[in-house]
Amino acid sequence: MNKYEELMVRKNEIVLKSVGIDFDKYETGKLSFDYERLMKDVGYTLEEVSEIQKDVGVGSTPLLELRNITKLARKSSRTGKAARIFVKDESCNPSGSFKDRRASISVFDAMKRGYKGVGAATSGNYGAAVASQANIRGLKCIIVNECYDSKKIGQPEILEKGRKCEGFGAEVVRLTVGPELFYTYLKILEDTGYYNASLYSSYGVAGIETLGYEIAEQCMKKLGKEPDAVVITHAGGGNVTGTARGLIKAGAVKTKIIGASVDLSGLHMASDIDFNKKSFTTGHTGFGIPFMTNPDRSDVPRSAARPLRYLDRFVTTTQGEVFWMTEILAQLEGLERGPAGNTSLVAAFAIAQEYEDDAIIVVQETEYTGAGKHLIPQLNFAKENGIKVYVGDPKEQVPGKSIVIPSHPSIISVTDIDMEGLKNSYIKNAINKLTKNIVEQVDIEFLSLETKMAKEKIVEILKQHKVGGI
Ligand SMILES: Cc1ncc(COP(=O)(O)O)c(C=O)c1O
Repeated sequence: MNKYEELMVRKNEIVLKSVGIDFDKYETGKLSFDYERLMKDVGYTLEEVSEIQKDVGVGSTPLLELRNITKLARKSSRTGKAARIFVKDESCNPSGSFKDRRASISVFDAMKRGYKGVGAATSGNYGAAVASQANIRGLKCIIVNECYDSKKIGQPEILEKGRKCEGFGAEVVRLTVGPELFYTYLKILEDTGYYNASLYSSYGVAGIETLGYEIAEQCMKKLGKEPDAVVITHAGGGNVTGTARGLIKAGAVKTKIIGASVDLSGLHMASDIDFNKKSFTTGHTGFGIPFMTNPDRSDVPRSAARPLRYLDRFVTTTQGEVFWMTEILAQLEGLERGPAGNTSLVAAFAIAQEYEDDAIIVVQETEYTGAGKHLIPQLNFAKENGIKVYVGDPKEQVPGKSIVIPSHPSIISVTDIDMEGLKNSYIKNAINKLTKNIVEQVDIEFLSLETKMAKEKIVEILKQHKVGGI
């Protein structure tokens, strides 16, 4: 056995020690597990989560109305109508993004259980959040950041996020793109005995629930009603999951949950060549679609991020449109914010035009911006990498080859991704993990909850795949 294989044999043991969750006890059928029990075992109520966050300056962020952007949407709309657009200014959190909500609960749990330090594998914002929370709680912090191609070149945004982690005093292990990320991270957890503040743990997702809850509460207080839709930038799926769960806990069950990602189709995330051809480091389809259709591909055996349970709609935007919106937000609303939140803002701008003027659409986050995250270094870097940047129709864009900045607000649009297709891919991936091609009744119920599809439909799909036991 080589070193990699040896470590993989110890994987479950390392994960168990570093997260303190015995995932085996949640397994129920051949492919199912008890998701709600996993979430319940976090052991903190929503009120307690909120208290933990208040103690460290996390959450209770303002809900701002984007009046000028709403006006522009109405001017651009074919009907002259558009919903009122609001944004939850999550950049007001201590490290500058909603990721503080996630980190605050994991780090609190690590402290309570007596761990000396915490670790996280992340593209950056989450690392900064964990590092910031670790400082407040007096713990050490190691962040593993996949940030370079094999020539040790990284794009400005990702380097910026790494610097921010170091700014908080974390030890940052910078890696080139490739499969060594998981190995290195596991090895660090084993060597240090640190807590795995995994992005995908139930603690992290429970921490995001307050975001959805606050949105519902603020809308009720300010506007006397719940939002018609909440638009959520989507990558690994925790953002959608936690926000939707919080909205549901607040009783906002009719609010439409819309996920939005930047379209990076055709670019391979694990490819050394493609790594620096993308101008976005999160909130894109390269993470969004694989994690949605196979959520357990993470650093814990069962991810608490299950976006297909909650999504009503999933749309994509283009890189050029998000750069445009970053500029518009600064110019029209005086808010200079980073790219992730602006992805859902673009989607909200287009989707608002499908609604009447009295409807409410909430963009669920902003993130901080900084030197490397700004659109100018990102666009200059894209040009250096041979990507054509021009003004025109964003529909012409080819990820990795061109970025098209929209020539007029009226051409901003979203592309709807077929939810049925995503759900079918999810089920196919689940079936592929079966050791024998057989399921139990509990698996059918699980798949129905995972995909929001009727049990009869699940049975039909399973039969198409010649799965037995039904
Ligand atoms: C600021 C910001 N917004 C949104 C996301 C997407 O969240 P998730 O990965 O939970 O879907 C990320 C994740 O990296 C992020 O850093």
